[in-house]
Amino acid sequence: MKEGSLEEARERAEELRRLIRYHSDRYYLLDDPEISDAEFDRLVAELKQLEEAYPELRTPDSPTQRVGGAVSPAFAPVPHERPLLSLDNIHDEKGLLQFMGRVKRLLQEEAPHVAPEFVLEPKIDGLSIAMDYRRGELYRGATRGDGYVGEDVTANLRTLRDIPHRLKAPFPERLLVRGEVYMQNEDFVALNQRREEEGLPVFANPRNAAAGSVRQNDPQVTAHRPLKLFCYEILLGEGENLPLTQWEALKALEAWGLPVNPERYLEQDPSAIMGRLSDWQERRHHLPYPMDGAVLKLNDLRAHDLLGTTQHSPRWSIAFKFPAEQAITQVEDIQISVGRTGVLTPLAILTPVVLAGTTVSRASLHNEDYVAEKGIRVGDWVVLEKAGDIIPQVVRTLPERRQGTETPFQMPDHCPVCGAIAVREEGEAARRCINTACPAQVRQRLIHWASRGAMDIDGLGPSLVDRLVEAKLVADVSDLYRLTAAQLEALPRMGERSAASLLRQIEASRTRPLHRFLYALGIRHVGARMAQILAQHFGHLEALEKATREELLAIPAVGPMVAQSIVTYFSQPETKELLERLKERGVHPAAEEASAPSGPLQGKTFVLTGTLSRPRSQFQSLIERAGGKVTGSVSRATDYVVVGESPGQKATRARELGVPTIGEEELERLLRGDNRER
Ligand code: IVH
Repeated sequence: MKEGSLEEARERAEELRRLIRYHSDRYYLLDDPEISDAEFDRLVAELKQLEEAYPELRTPDSPTQRVGGAVSPAFAPVPHERPLLSLDNIHDEKGLLQFMGRVKRLLQEEAPHVAPEFVLEPKIDGLSIAMDYRRGELYRGATRGDGYVGEDVTANLRTLRDIPHRLKAPFPERLLVRGEVYMQNEDFVALNQRREEEGLPVFANPRNAAAGSVRQNDPQVTAHRPLKLFCYEILLGEGENLPLTQWEALKALEAWGLPVNPERYLEQDPSAIMGRLSDWQERRHHLPYPMDGAVLKLNDLRAHDLLGTTQHSPRWSIAFKFPAEQAITQVEDIQISVGRTGVLTPLAILTPVVLAGTTVSRASLHNEDYVAEKGIRVGDWVVLEKAGDIIPQVVRTLPERRQGTETPFQMPDHCPVCGAIAVREEGEAARRCINTACPAQVRQRLIHWASRGAMDIDGLGPSLVDRLVEAKLVADVSDLYRLTAAQLEALPRMGERSAASLLRQIEASRTRPLHRFLYALGIRHVGARMAQILAQHFGHLEALEKATREELLAIPAVGPMVAQSIVTYFSQPETKELLERLKERGVHPAAEEASAPSGPLQGKTFVLTGTLSRPRSQFQSLIERAGGKVTGSVSRATDYVVVGESPGQKATRARELGVPTIGEEELERLLRGDNRER
């Protein structure tokens, strides 16, 4: 019995690992999650449970050992001088009392003179960043990454109006400050509305919108996103009169001209703290930013060092997470919408219900497996939650409320728009209409082609696309490039001037940079960022068209799914014909400078020895991300031996072989691509 269940558990664990990695990449690398945070957490929790029940299934590389926080190879890695830790969570008064009791005990042991007084701050749901100000000037800004190594996003952060390039005097010599880049709820909704109109994929929640906007290759894109910042922690200060409490630190940050959330309290008494937390929980939907809880911080900063941290989080702080708000309503119907790639998406039409401050009347059901997994029937009562406080999701059904009249959902095997068959490929969750000429697909492809970020044809939105398709003037994107003024002027609601302006826009799009063209093609799994990576790597279209799966897989950011999708796309006869037609009609994407194999440490081999300031695994990942390799023993092929405290035999061996030995500082210089001679 045990044997059978172990085998089943092994299979499930492998599946869960695959799913978690996939969804983790979608979230962290593509900023485009497919499932809600709660669902993701459930996958991780299930895997954890399995690994606890069957410890033999635990692998060192299991995502339970380290979830999320990937660093994209598209940005230079930044080692954090002070780690950007995360926080433990509590959910109720009991957790609060436990935390406060623990802190009190520790204080009595370590610092009996310190009052157990806490600063309460809203926990903003955004992207954590660190900014380094040297002599008052913004020197560098980085994402949190995995807490030890982040991504250099300085150029992008400089475009935020909230971020001062220079601090107000008198400022400290050096200031490393941590904060949260976020998007206000209203701005998030407006941005998604715009994106939907433009046929661009929408962001799942304000946090992903903020993260996706900061992690852009082109700072111009970031500049156009409505991003804001709150600072909340001095990671490192060098200078005089630095604050000694968190309360003073927040005031000091304000005085230096940095944005700080005015919502904050200083409290000592547990019932007063609980009162503040419940008050925030009620008010949070009236606050303009996404707030998923509150953070408590011991006020006395000197006591922070005394209390110290566990591996992941400080003992002097805790996050009080608010529960996701839920509502109950009925599924009136399940309709199907057809997207650009022919994907049929089931959409629940709901009896309108108010959830977390807005009326919800529909919710995407993503795909047929989702509907089956949750067992959703038309007529069912369901529990709704909002992903990131914004996007409604069906969490589960309430089968106990069934009357017997509910009807199970059957995914159609034909496209509801054109009637062609809709097939589901093996290993895919999506069912697709196979007719590439399906009016729904053609429409979405044209909208996507013209959208900002793609070919950017101003004025060619959904309504004009509909008129063009209706008049049979365009059947695919290449037809845009042979439209005439006379044809356009004959369309309803189209004057001479708008026709001329549209033609100018179309004309200008003929030579857009390659990455936009690639994105505009709408290749499955190639979003704007992936398109940029590909364009930079290959330089021109012909090189990418010919690329093999292996060549694609050699690019760090390209995984098997993306590689396969690209190869398949370019091998299809329809693609070849389309590219040929585009070429004939004068569409010639501008070549981009192809970059050499990336990373300042490309081809270099390192050996680490002695005690370093951080775990070796971190240095190893830094070196690897910069293109280098770490091996276990010194040979003539070794380029550098990095020597920490009390080094062993390896340092001696290096000297014998004449291999250069370097310290951590020098390693960091090499990582930055700074190759100056010593
Ligand atoms: S303090 C060691 N303060 O919440 C100090 N974090 O789960 C850790 N966050 O990764 C951070 N608002 O991205 C702190 N006022 C606030 C915050 C805040 C949002 C985020 C931050 C962090 C996560 C912790």
